[in-house]
Amino acid sequence: MEKAINVGIVGMGVVGTGVAKIILNQGHLLSERTGKRFVLKTAVDLDWEQERGVDLAGVQTTTDFEALVTDPEIDVVVETVGGIEPAFTMVRRALATGKHVVTANKALLAMKGRTLFQEAEDHGVELRFEASVGGGIPIIKSLREGLVANKIMNMYGIINGTSNYILTRMHREGLDFDAALREAQIQGFAEADPTLDVGGGDAAHKLTILASLAAGGFVDFNAIPVEGITELTTLDIDFAKNFGYVVKLLAIYRFNEEKLDLRVHPTLVPGDHLLAAVNNELNAVFITGDYVGDTMFYGPGAGQTPTASAIVSDLVDLASILQAEKVASIPTINPEKTVNLFSLEEITNRFYLRLFTLDQPGILAQIAGVFGKYGISISSVVQLETHGDENYVPIVLLTHEASEKAMFKAMMAIKEFPFVRPDILRLRLFK
Ligand code: HSE
Repeated sequence: MEKAINVGIVGMGVVGTGVAKIILNQGHLLSERTGKRFVLKTAVDLDWEQERGVDLAGVQTTTDFEALVTDPEIDVVVETVGGIEPAFTMVRRALATGKHVVTANKALLAMKGRTLFQEAEDHGVELRFEASVGGGIPIIKSLREGLVANKIMNMYGIINGTSNYILTRMHREGLDFDAALREAQIQGFAEADPTLDVGGGDAAHKLTILASLAAGGFVDFNAIPVEGITELTTLDIDFAKNFGYVVKLLAIYRFNEEKLDLRVHPTLVPGDHLLAAVNNELNAVFITGDYVGDTMFYGPGAGQTPTASAIVSDLVDLASILQAEKVASIPTINPEKTVNLFSLEEITNRFYLRLFTLDQPGILAQIAGVFGKYGISISSVVQLETHGDENYVPIVLLTHEASEKAMFKAMMAIKEFPFVRPDILRLRLFK
């Protein structure tokens, strides 16, 4: 048996505790499979009163992060603190002291990744992040290694479990948005601030990581257009269903030699697409590579054990690096290269537009007139009888491919009509 790999965990919350459980309970299996011995030497947290359901006898438990990073015996620091600060300062310090770092922190990588990858490079250490996207799905390793021969042409991710859970409950049981969100929070996979889930921010953090990896350069999180699912009603879910679609919050990556088309928004996915069958809190990433063709990765995107399982896979990888004489470098995010993105205005899509209007003669013709004026071709129109508000009737229009710019202008013009209620919703169709 080779020398032990000494691990320190900072942040003994749900995920950190999961990592401790695997190292302590699954040690034999890991050793058998890898020929390495993993030792949980130190765990750092501010609260050592709470019961965690794991026996930490033999592990140094402390509130002092410095004790961890200045310990020369520690090989790898696992960061499971979450959020930007103090996680950023801690990860940076750990890298600067020559420790390899494994993190599950998607927000941190999306916002501060460039600095951290540079720091890792400067100090000749690794920053690993398998658990940051798709929880237990080995999506990072698949992109880095399994698909390394391919140019990634398209990538469509259902990578926020909370919104997928909400949309599934709305779709299957007609639950309204607020009730479905409350249930997701009870299940425990929503972020501390659930606006990150339902507003699309969490999916955008994860898309930043996937896109940076796939494109081999750094993507600016702030340049990604993001829309969440908060405006969706069960009426929209039903309309979509009747048109043969399922609404999913998609993180989208579309390759173009010149720039990348990245966005996060609710999308009408054809009912027979594989992504339409990804339900509840499960995640999936559908990837098309230029040589491999279509692939899909599916599994639990959150939770203690799936996330910890991904973190331990990084530890095993690092163990090989620590003990190999020479390791071929595997592509990762290059902090020195920036990837340019299309702005939303430059993109075309098919659209779903839902509005409520007074039920009077000539109204539909005026709305259609606006579409005509902006060169947008309508592919279907449906009007229902009154729905909730007896003065107004819901109308839904599906369009052929049109520019975002034209659609935005048409929407603004339609909003001006005195017979249209202000709560207009525009969604995009899968392409
Ligand atoms: N809040 C996240 C989700 C947790 O719902 O997917 C996993 O990153």
